[in-house]
Amino acid sequence: MSDRSEETSRGPADGPPARLVIVSNRVPAPNPRGAIGAGGLAVALEAALKAHGGVWFGWSGESRPAIDAEALRQQKVGPITFATTDLTKRDVEDYYLGYSNQALWPVCHYRLDLARFDDRETQAYFRVNEFFARKLANLVEPDDVVWVHDYHMMPLGAALRSRGIGNRIGFFLHIPWPPHEVASALPGYSRLLRSMSAYDLIGFQTERDAEHFGRCLVEEGFAVNVGDGWFESGERRFRIAAFPIGIDTDAIRIAAAKSVGQAATRRMLASLHDKRLVIGVDRLDYSKGLRERIRSFVTYLAEHPDARGHVTYLQVTPKSRSEVPEYRRIEQEVATQVGEANGACGDFDWTPIRYLNQNIPHATLTGLYRMADVGLVTPLRDGMNLVAKEYVASQDETDPGVLVLSRYAGAACELDAALLVNPYDAVGTAAAIARALDMSLGERRERWRSMMDVLERHTVNDWWRGFVDTLQALPGDSDSGEQVGATG
Ligand code: UDP
Ligand code: G6P
Repeated sequence: MSDRSEETSRGPADGPPARLVIVSNRVPAPNPRGAIGAGGLAVALEAALKAHGGVWFGWSGESRPAIDAEALRQQKVGPITFATTDLTKRDVEDYYLGYSNQALWPVCHYRLDLARFDDRETQAYFRVNEFFARKLANLVEPDDVVWVHDYHMMPLGAALRSRGIGNRIGFFLHIPWPPHEVASALPGYSRLLRSMSAYDLIGFQTERDAEHFGRCLVEEGFAVNVGDGWFESGERRFRIAAFPIGIDTDAIRIAAAKSVGQAATRRMLASLHDKRLVIGVDRLDYSKGLRERIRSFVTYLAEHPDARGHVTYLQVTPKSRSEVPEYRRIEQEVATQVGEANGACGDFDWTPIRYLNQNIPHATLTGLYRMADVGLVTPLRDGMNLVAKEYVASQDETDPGVLVLSRYAGAACELDAALLVNPYDAVGTAAAIARALDMSLGERRERWRSMMDVLERHTVNDWWRGFVDTLQALPGDSDSGEQVGATG
C-alpha cells in the first residue's frame, strides 16, 4: 500500500484535490444527523465521503414500474452530493435480489449449495450495470476519480470505458473472493472477469482474496501476471492489491466512553443484574454463522452448568434481504432455535439469549460492546467484519473484554490476538467462550493492546486514502478501453 498522508488526496498533477465519485448499489438515505443503516460498506463509505467530500452515486433503494432514462435525483448534504436513481421492479428482482444476492453473494462466500443460477438474472445484472453507466457517464467530469464498490457493480468500469470515460477508475470488493475452483461456477464468469481489466486498480480486503482473484484472471487467460501486483490484458495494465478496511477507531473509542451515561446503556446494564454479557451483532445473513453460534453458546451452557443464570448472550440482528428465500428461511430457523434454547435452558429469572431484530444506532452499539465481557464474532465467511474491530475499539482499556473471532473473517488476518475459532466447531467455540470469560486481567489487557495497536495504525481514513492515493499515483493515462468491451 502507498504511504498514508494526513492531507486530503490531491489530483493527478498535484493540483487541487480531485473530485471523488463513489459508486455503490447501496446508498443510504441522505441524513444530516448521520445515522445510517446497517452494513459495513455504508459505514465505511460515509466516513470517506464526510472527510474528503464528493459524489455518492447508486441505487435509491426505490423501485417503480418504469424509469425515465435521464432522471437522477441529486441532493447535497454537507460535503456529500447524493446522486441516486430508482430501478424498475423487474431489475430489482433480477439484478439485486437475483444475480447479486443469489449467485454472486453465495458463491463469493463459498456457498455453492445456496447459489441459484438463472440466465435472465445474469443478463439483467449486466444490463443494469449498463444502465448505471449511462447515468453516471453524464455526471463524471474529466478530472474526477471514480471509485466503484462491491459485487453488484463489477462490470461497471467496462461499461463506463465503452462510453469513452478515460478517468482513473478503481474498484473495491467488500466481500471475499474465492479460489478459481469455486468462483468458476458463477454464471457469466468469463464475461465478468473479462470486464474487470477496465479498472486501473482493483482492491480486496485481504491478500488471500487478491491472490485468488489474480489467479482466476490468469487461469481463464484474461490477463498475465507481470509481478508486484501488476497484470496485463492486451494493451491495458492494471494493479491488484489488498486494502484491508478499517474503522474510525478514535471516534468509536470516544463514543463508547461517552455512552456510559446514556439511557440505553443504563437500561441494559440495570437489566443484567450483574450477569456477565456476551454480545453478537450481525445482519441476519447465513454467512454470519448465527445457527452455529447459538449452538456453540448452548454447548457452553451444557458444559458449564455453573454459568447458568450468570451469563447472558445478547444477539443484535437486523433483518436483511428478506425478499430472498434463503434469508427468509434463516430468519425462521434462528428465531426457532433461540426460542428452543431459551425454553430448554432458561429459568424464571434468566433468559439465556436475548434476541433483537432491530437496527441499533452505531453510538448505542458502542456502549453495548463496552459492557460486554465477550464479543462473539463467528461468521462462516466474511470479507472483513467491522463489528470485530468496533468491539475492540469500544473496550475500557483498564478492563477490556475478549474478542472470540472466526478464523474465516478477513479481520482474523489483522486481529490475531483474538481467540480465533473454527465457527463450525461448537465444542471448540464453547471452550473459547469459557476461556474468554475466565481470562485474567493481564492477558485481556495484553491481547487488547495488541489489537488496538493495529486499529490505531490502520483506520478507515487510512483505508480510503491508501486506495485513492494509489489509484491517482499509478503511472500512465488510462485509455478509453475500447478493447475491454465485456459488457455488451
Ligand atoms: N450495524 C449497525 N447497527 C446494527 C447492526 C450493525 O450500525 O444494528 C453496523 C455495525 O456497527 C457495522 C456494520 O453495521 O459497522 C456491519 O458491518 P460488518 O462489516 O460487520 O458486516 P456486513 O453487514 O457489512 O456484512
Ligand atoms: C454487505 C455488502 C454491502 C451491502 C450490505 C448491506 O456489507 O458488502 O454491499 O450494502 O451488506 O446489504 P444490502 O443488500 O442491504 O445493501
